[in-house]
Amino acid sequence: MAIERTLSIIKPDATKRNLNGRIVTMLEAASLRIVAQKRIHLTMAQAGVFYAVHKARPFYDELCEFMSSGPIVVQVLEAEDAIAKNRAVMGATNPDQAAPGTIRKAFALSIGENSVHGSDGADTAAAEIGYFFAGLELVG
Ligand code: CMP
Repeated sequence: MAIERTLSIIKPDATKRNLNGRIVTMLEAASLRIVAQKRIHLTMAQAGVFYAVHKARPFYDELCEFMSSGPIVVQVLEAEDAIAKNRAVMGATNPDQAAPGTIRKAFALSIGENSVHGSDGADTAAAEIGYFFAGLELVG
């Protein structure tokens, strides 16, 4: 399996509750290495561009409002099979369906305020990393 990179976001519900360190610990325990990380506060428009794929969904406006409601931490994670590893440790989108031991089971408040985001495939990961980071910021 090749070394991959994936984009991770610690969402506003988690930064607000001071959970960054506990989430980083769970990512690192899952053998994911943080090769870039920064804390930013998105505008509604910037959140809208990031989640443009969901534009037709009924929850799109709510999602963009939430993602611009407070600081987020964007990260690039590196590992063998990083995309699948990250999705496994995040758990299901809906915390009611997330497995024990996952980040969303531990911390998510609802399907919307679900603490973390992770890229869902190789093409998405490349596009999402490029949205937030310049090449020089990725230090493996
Ligand atoms: P994420 O992995 O960031 O990708 C899209 C996000 O949309 C998802 O996590 C949820 O936070 C959000 N989402 C998905 N379904 C719903 C829903 N039914 N209601 C509100 N938000 C949702």
